[in-house]
Amino acid sequence: MKMDELDALQASLNCALDALRDELSAQNLPPLSSTATEQHPLDDPAYLSSPRIFEARRLALGCIGQLRNLLQVPYEKVVEQSFAVYDTACMNIAVSTGMIDILAESPALSVVELAKRLDLHPIKVATVLRYLATQGWLIEHEYNVFSLARPGLELRKEHNGRVWTGTPGKPRVAMSLLDMMTLPDCKFSTSREKTAFQLSHNTSLSLFDHLKAHPAEFEQWSKSVRSLGAASQKALINDYPWASLDSKTFVDCGGGHGYLSMLLSQELKNSKFIIQDLPEVVRMTKKNVEREYLDQQKEGRLIVEPHDFFQPQHRKADVYMFRYILHNWSNDDCVTILKKSASAAPPEAKFLIIEYIPHRSASTHRTLPAPLSMTSGA
Ligand SMILES: C[S@@+](CC[C@H](N)C(=O)[O-])C[C@H]1O[C@@H](n2cnc3c(N)ncnc32)[C@H](O)[C@@H]1O
Repeated sequence: MKMDELDALQASLNCALDALRDELSAQNLPPLSSTATEQHPLDDPAYLSSPRIFEARRLALGCIGQLRNLLQVPYEKVVEQSFAVYDTACMNIAVSTGMIDILAESPALSVVELAKRLDLHPIKVATVLRYLATQGWLIEHEYNVFSLARPGLELRKEHNGRVWTGTPGKPRVAMSLLDMMTLPDCKFSTSREKTAFQLSHNTSLSLFDHLKAHPAEFEQWSKSVRSLGAASQKALINDYPWASLDSKTFVDCGGGHGYLSMLLSQELKNSKFIIQDLPEVVRMTKKNVEREYLDQQKEGRLIVEPHDFFQPQHRKADVYMFRYILHNWSNDDCVTILKKSASAAPPEAKFLIIEYIPHRSASTHRTLPAPLSMTSGA
């Protein structure tokens, strides 16, 4: 008999939560708490999730998303979605005005004190903080007294989440998407010069040409890309059989500041890495490599050079890597980049494409999966 949707989701959610609880106890990890004042070991980018924990979290979040779709009054979903833009705005306000940094220093702080220290209006500060508390970033312990909740800890200085928020512009670009879809000049174009980016930034330059002309923005943008890599580097090293590629030559196409190659060069001691990027970027990459990996550079295992991936690749190598590259370009551009990069590649060369695929809490599956059994070691 076909299972009722609610029953199937409940069964899958229970199964995911049981697996999570089991794994936490098997690994002697503390219970999860959203109001903890310290990060949970699972939040640490250096923590390597077991496959069971990874799948259990994914399944639980997917079920929660689907349950929302099932249970929420559709009108309320529309209203909630239209307000979602304020979530981002409030998070940016809390970071940019320094609210997060002050809250990070104290166990709990009153709105009056916070507003005084920041020279802001207390009622406006309270509105933003309360909004963030409803989203789980903060806790309102008593009326008008707030502290960081566990997710909010990720917005503290030096944390990957904070670095990621440092690159502004996403709301601006988002507000131009409608024009990009409908204006006669843009609607049927897939050119990199006819995107929402140009409309929102009032420029005719492509994203990367704009960044080249604004070095400080480029620097910040590169830092946020680095945070993306840093947050998943443990999994990246473990999820691919890199050891089978030791002693090979790698070309890191659009390698940015070189962090992927630097990381891999520690794992693959007999391999050589050629990091290529635009001239404006490789200046910084060279400095990074010299500062952090001078020995590998001296041994000739880490080479940094300018190369435009729209031009024929001159390096003959065993592996060509593209991390966080292809999502930036149209389908036609991607085909060009890959074809040009294959110019000097031997037939047995590997092309490794590494991309970030955001988790969405609701799955896009039309049909529900049968409730999973998440046995230990699955
Ligand atoms: C999202 S970043 C990824 C950087 C790096 N692969 C990483 O994982 O950290 C995209 C990179 O592509 C580079 N890029 C853009 N256009 C390029 C081009 N025409 N030729 C080579 N690199 C380019 C940028 O400078 C930037 O460093």
